[in-house]
Amino acid sequence: MNVSRDVSDPEYFLILNVNGMNDNVIQVNSIVKRYGNTVAVNGVSFNVKQGEFVSLLGPSGCGKTTTLRMIAGFVEASGGTINVHGRDVTHLPPEKRNVGFVFQNYALWPHMTVAENVAFGLRLRKKNQAFIRQKIEDSLGVVGLAGYESRLPRQLSGGQQQRVALARALALEPELLLMDEPLSNLDRALRVSMRRELKELQSKMKMTTLYVTHDQEEALSMSNRVVIMNKGNIEQIAVPHELYESPNSAFVADFVGITNFLEGHIVAHGAGYSTLHLQPGLIIQTTMPVPILAGRRIMALLRPEKLTVITHAPPAGDNILQGRIILSEYYGAVVRYSILTGENKILRAEVHNIDKVYENGTPVWMRIEPDSLRVIPFEGEH
Ligand SMILES: Nc1ncnc2c1ncn2[C@@H]1O[C@H](COP(=O)(O)OP(=O)(O)OP(=O)(O)O)[C@@H](O)[C@H]1O
Ligand SMILES: [Mg+2]
Repeated sequence: MNVSRDVSDPEYFLILNVNGMNDNVIQVNSIVKRYGNTVAVNGVSFNVKQGEFVSLLGPSGCGKTTTLRMIAGFVEASGGTINVHGRDVTHLPPEKRNVGFVFQNYALWPHMTVAENVAFGLRLRKKNQAFIRQKIEDSLGVVGLAGYESRLPRQLSGGQQQRVALARALALEPELLLMDEPLSNLDRALRVSMRRELKELQSKMKMTTLYVTHDQEEALSMSNRVVIMNKGNIEQIAVPHELYESPNSAFVADFVGITNFLEGHIVAHGAGYSTLHLQPGLIIQTTMPVPILAGRRIMALLRPEKLTVITHAPPAGDNILQGRIILSEYYGAVVRYSILTGENKILRAEVHNIDKVYENGTPVWMRIEPDSLRVIPFEGEH
């Protein structure tokens, strides 16, 4: 927005309004779902902006499907409000919400052809024949299934069935597309290629999308923002890079990627740095901001790729740990080492420039870059 603009100009307010009001396609405020004594969703709030791809990511049973179904209208919220395009839809039936839904299983009608499946929702909406025929052609074209109109679902592969489910949702031209683990039934290769197709399609059509998955790779690679859920609550909402680099809890760090947890405490804060004492036997000065009082117990989080593994003794230094390789896993582009250090602490290291794979028992030294640590308050045992 042009800030130097004269505020007496009527257009100025128009711009403010457009930016301020219509940006959010979904706005979910403190929604709750109770089943008897079970609290499936415990007061969840987030928004999805126009054209944005947002994922709900979390372990099995954390409330992802329930949240999505409340937004679609298949499950009634026990509390809170749901707005779609600024309209309160909390108590509207699904068909009044103009929301497309792709289910956790494909939920295609087995006795209907591909074309009939795609046409189903349009018929319910009493669209005319010519319109329906055009929509079938367009949406099957978009998902790369032109020519499959008269097949039955059982005559298609899993990936093709998945695309029919997607075409069926697209045909309704939803203001908003909700997808529940749409790729979970596919093998890995198909999942990866469908992931790209889906993302390309979403970007091309600028479809506002809320996507549920328990696959962190899927969430990180496809989303503009990720909402991490745990036991019915939101743990963190962030762009993928921030989520990986700056998790705000041990849960998020553990769920998204691999993390080494080093327990310790803050020795002191200096001018622009903090001194940390970490198990097993590290004194480290970090310039990363640590908004925690001196003396407090902390948890330092360290990603495996941020450890440098050396096989000859380096000059003694504060941020060096000595250990011994107890497991090496070779993946082609990367080797993952489990390294025993101290009495019983195992650290995970990831090496990308591989000229040699070291054997179990090899003595190693690990250099820790102080500014690659993320420090959070101590929150229990691991
Ligand atoms: N109809 C229901 N009656 C009672 N409890 C339910 C019902 N539906 C879901 N739950 C419970 O609510 C919690 C959240 O379920 P939900 O299906 O939303 O999880 P999810 O995050 O989608 O998990 P998954 O990754 O396994 O699909 C679970 O503990 C589940 O057992
Ligand atoms: Mg689910």
